[in-house]
Amino acid sequence: MESGGHSMNRVTITAHDVAKDFNRRQIFRDISFSLSLPSSLAITGKNGAGKSTLSKILAGLIGSTRGSITYTLNDKQVGIEKFKHSIGFVSPYLNLYDEFTALENLQLLSRIRATTQQNEGRMKDLLSLVNLWQRRDDLVGTFSSGMKQRLKYAFALLHNPNVLILDEPTSSLDEEGIEFVQRIVRQQKEEGVLIVATNDKEEAGWCAKEIHVGMPER
Ligand SMILES: Nc1ncnc2c1ncn2[C@@H]1O[C@H](COP(=O)(O)OP(=O)(O)O)[C@@H](O)[C@H]1O
Ligand SMILES: [Mg+2]
Repeated sequence: MESGGHSMNRVTITAHDVAKDFNRRQIFRDISFSLSLPSSLAITGKNGAGKSTLSKILAGLIGSTRGSITYTLNDKQVGIEKFKHSIGFVSPYLNLYDEFTALENLQLLSRIRATTQQNEGRMKDLLSLVNLWQRRDDLVGTFSSGMKQRLKYAFALLHNPNVLILDEPTSSLDEEGIEFVQRIVRQQKEEGVLIVATNDKEEAGWCAKEIHVGMPER
């Protein structure tokens, strides 16, 4: 059962000597780690070091140039197409549909995922959590960047993901927004896998482990 409370599956996510090049330029290489729940990993590095790129690779949105990522679900190795349903992703590169309302965006997403019956109750809970319930019928195109960032959390959490990947988690958020992110983070790292891509020391400090990306200076 995915809806309602947290009932996490056993998952592992393992990076084997992952490297990424763009147009023959090496962004990073030799990235290896293994995470199983509960655990937390910060991806750190300078601007342009490849934090967002590695988050997208882990979320299965783009491929690596060399090496591989393997995922297991209840001790069985599974492909990313299956594992995707266990991942929640918050990223500046995630786009919402401006021409739909907040609630419609969530409904659309749950229909796209279509793995389990999503209940309207959970959407209400999540929109309330991020303080957008009152604004659920407004077009996302009229939202401020902070409101859009809040909505991304409702998106990411809709299916109770075992693995939550946050790229620049507090981007555009106000104090109250940062507080709910901290609550989400606390719960996720106790019950699931949390991955945070950031160059903020405090955010990196939320995680038990840290991995640095980027190429050494030449
Ligand atoms: N689609 C792309 N095509 C070419 N270069 C890219 C692409 N995406 C990212 N890069 C480059 O990869 C490097 C890492 O980018 P990014 O992962 O966004 O860094 P970070 O998130 O650490 O600031 C940068 O030099 C960036 O310009
Ligand atoms: Mg980035």
